[in-house]
Amino acid sequence: MVTMTDKLTQDGFSQKGFILAAIGSSVGLGNMWKFPYITGMYGGAAFFLLFIICLVVAGLPILLAELTIGRSGRGDASSSLINISGKSWWGGLGVISVIGAFMIMSFYAVVAGWTFHYTLISFTGELYRNADYTGTFNAFAGSWTPVFWQAGVMLLCIGILYKGVSKGIEAFNNVLIPLLVIILVILMARAVTLPNAGEGIRFFLEPDFSKLTAKSALAALGHAFFSLSLGMGTMITYGAYVDIKQSLPKGSIAIAGGDLAYAVLAGLIIFPIVFSVGLEPTSGAGLVFMALPNAFEAMPLGSLFSGLFFIVLAVAALTSAISILEVPVAYAVKTWRWSRKKAVWWVGLMCFLLGVPSALAVGGPLSSMIGDKSFFDWMDFIASNIIMPIGGMIVTIFTGYAWKRAGEAAGLHGPMYRVWMFLLRYIAPFLILGIFLYSTGLLDFLFD
Ligand code: TRP
Repeated sequence: MVTMTDKLTQDGFSQKGFILAAIGSSVGLGNMWKFPYITGMYGGAAFFLLFIICLVVAGLPILLAELTIGRSGRGDASSSLINISGKSWWGGLGVISVIGAFMIMSFYAVVAGWTFHYTLISFTGELYRNADYTGTFNAFAGSWTPVFWQAGVMLLCIGILYKGVSKGIEAFNNVLIPLLVIILVILMARAVTLPNAGEGIRFFLEPDFSKLTAKSALAALGHAFFSLSLGMGTMITYGAYVDIKQSLPKGSIAIAGGDLAYAVLAGLIIFPIVFSVGLEPTSGAGLVFMALPNAFEAMPLGSLFSGLFFIVLAVAALTSAISILEVPVAYAVKTWRWSRKKAVWWVGLMCFLLGVPSALAVGGPLSSMIGDKSFFDWMDFIASNIIMPIGGMIVTIFTGYAWKRAGEAAGLHGPMYRVWMFLLRYIAPFLILGIFLYSTGLLDFLFD
């Protein structure tokens, strides 16, 4: 144990570096294009309150569990479970998350690539030469260009991970995360001074308790889970690089708080912009690539603000992407004993190849449906809606039932420990089951 720890402290996070890297992982496209929308849809400030409750009751305990598993096991998302329990079958369960991370990365790099392309064509003004933004996006997504950008994102991630934890992951997040705040604040200042901004802010935050239904509760829960990057082995993997002296409970609170702050900033940017030109609020790719350009076009210096906006998306996606790719890379290094160099290149290459069909599946040459979904949507569905809840369940059961010394390892004693265990044992598993049934559509009959 001592030798393992020593070996790892040679390349690990500093205290601040860890918090920034974990915030970098959790702040992603989910904060930018999903959170604001579901908040607006499901009751504004009322939903926001519910979301905070979900973060505290389900997000924080599992986040702390993942970080603790990583720091005590000092392995990857699979071997950490073996190192702690001494039983190899736990490692087999952990592999599920590693596979999920590999799958997520394959298409996340594609979407990240879109944001890089849009940053470029915003600044060059090419995006604004033709006002048919839906047509522009479809023509782009239907071509081979996304593969080029996807390759670029993969190479960037490979380059960062190649440099290791402190010189790669930490160094980049140390620069990118503060940069992100600066740009977000500039964008927010622009957004809230637009005509009609008040209406946007009202849509985002005006509490409407009548919209709080079972459906909004499940949306809040699922998003709390997704937003903190749980269930994919990411936080276990990052936890392994955390110093033994760092407080994990405090760290978890800082990470969740940071994630929430970015989400709120995103909402204060997106809705004032959407409402300033009377667009319909939506979410996802349709919102940022097709709808928002209409608004940027209408504002003075629109190309500049649009460029800044897409940089935010690109940076948020990149800092998440490196944390996802690190999961299978760490697995190859620690379980297969590959050199970091070999692991980064091979895992990166395989992940790129798996992503190519996704890059070509959004209106491109491979957009034929498999059943009711495209290749891209299948990858997303399996990874986000099936593997993520399973990964979360494994962590919850491992920490709540199998690991007797979890409290000590997490640094929790007395009443706080008992609250943590209560949530992990009796609350979180049912909440995760709810997310699973809801997001796979098995509960749909309840909502008709
Ligand atoms: N949390 C990220 C977001 O808000 C997305 C995400 C989900 C993620 N699971 C992950 C990122 C695992 C990294 C690792 O967009």
